[in-house]
Amino acid sequence: MGMIRIAHISDTHITNEGAFKGYAFDLIVEEINRGNFDFVIHTGDITNQGLREEYEQAAYQLKKIQKPLVVLPGNHDVRNVGYKLFEDFIGPLNGVYEFRDGVVIWVDSTIPDLSDGRIGGHKFRWLKERLEEYSDRRFKIVAAHHHLVPLPDTGRERNVLFNAGDVLDLLLRHGVTLYTCGHKHVPNVYRVEDLIIDNAGCTSCKKTRKGDVNSYNIIELYDDGRVRVTIRRVTGDEITKEHKPVKPKIFVPSGRRLFRIVQMSESNVSDRVYFRRKTLENVVRMINERLRPDLVVHNGDMVDAGIERYYERAYEYYKLVKPQKILVPGHNDITYLGHELFQEYFGEPEVLELGDIVIIPVLSAQYETPIGVVGRMGQKKLRNTLREYEGKFRIVVMHHNVIPVPKSREIGFLEDAGDVLKVLTDEGTELVLTGHGGNAFGVKIENTPIVNAGSVSWELHRNPFGNSFNLVDIYTDMVVVWEVQSTWGSRKLLGIWKRKKH
Ligand SMILES: [Fe+2]
Ligand SMILES: [Fe+2]
Repeated sequence: MGMIRIAHISDTHITNEGAFKGYAFDLIVEEINRGNFDFVIHTGDITNQGLREEYEQAAYQLKKIQKPLVVLPGNHDVRNVGYKLFEDFIGPLNGVYEFRDGVVIWVDSTIPDLSDGRIGGHKFRWLKERLEEYSDRRFKIVAAHHHLVPLPDTGRERNVLFNAGDVLDLLLRHGVTLYTCGHKHVPNVYRVEDLIIDNAGCTSCKKTRKGDVNSYNIIELYDDGRVRVTIRRVTGDEITKEHKPVKPKIFVPSGRRLFRIVQMSESNVSDRVYFRRKTLENVVRMINERLRPDLVVHNGDMVDAGIERYYERAYEYYKLVKPQKILVPGHNDITYLGHELFQEYFGEPEVLELGDIVIIPVLSAQYETPIGVVGRMGQKKLRNTLREYEGKFRIVVMHHNVIPVPKSREIGFLEDAGDVLKVLTDEGTELVLTGHGGNAFGVKIENTPIVNAGSVSWELHRNPFGNSFNLVDIYTDMVVVWEVQSTWGSRKLLGIWKRKKH
């Protein structure tokens, strides 16, 4: 059977100073030259400071690789206006590399003088056009420097692409096989739906994390559609992950419906003009009279500000909601006196066991900042709770996002999103419900569907569909999520996922 083998290196940080580990570079390049690779991708931070002498040295070092080489810039390469030198010494900042029945589209995700990444404006359009142009290719690889979903063991979550949600959405819509990147110096492989997200560690830089060693990744694309990624460390240790895309993806639930949840967020009850009172009243009516869920989940930002008058009003609305409810606080809820008021009006959210379904609330909101955190102690508690209820259908409910949401610009990101996402996926959490960012979105990452609710009644949202909430139907064999328009009640399928077999 035919196969394409690609070596993925990253973050070489070539310099005359201490950051560059020449022997690790030579060791890995030798392995690559000896190995049966079709080509090599370098996902950036070729140099350490983007300086001329570093580029000169890099051009010499990269010549040691005796395979076709795709190279793109990292944030270190564009320091000191290094992007000019990149073009002179290395090659184009963006481009396309065609191989047998596949294509690599590489994009410069850097921002001069910042460590953050962005595939904005023109580049986003360029990427979209290339994906359309090469839509018939069996294997589509998109390569950039910055990561797309939060990574574990990287410390504070930062430098994710500013528009990671839009890029993720774009790649999923165009059936991209693999997104490859570097930057955080931590190797990792995730599966988001049928998209493989392949993060390389660092090939030859001293700055590894958690005492790790240098590494590179091996990507294998098989004729039957399977994709295999191996993280290979200089010690010879290997970790391999394989995925076979499910195509065509036609699911119809055949089992019994076990449980129905209405998931909403960002009601932002207040007397500000942005609060759409009638819309929320309409939703309450829809819940009570038509949808009749087993449970209503509110993912935070019940009120626009933590003051008594708003809490009183919010309480009036939610008293009207007939089904059982579980509420977690968002960042707006705990501004001012909100922390006390939330407890007083709605109580501290607790684990809720309803037969085979267990709802696990996670507190992520911090006082007076949109930035969330679960914390190391909170992560441990979450892991233990998930293990305690292993075998049940575990639903984690929290405010902040663990995956990027389209149109949201990550203002209220979760500080430790990478580690939290790892806990959730490691434990095979059956469903995660979040509610920040003002837009509805749902993807399955590894075996865990993660569903974000848009804003149910707040005018300042980011959803072209308007104010909405989600209807989550759990069947014996599937999870089906609809987005329901708050005013009209019209529905849009947000996601349908097979349940893992116990
Ligand atoms: Fe780097
Ligand atoms: Fe970087």
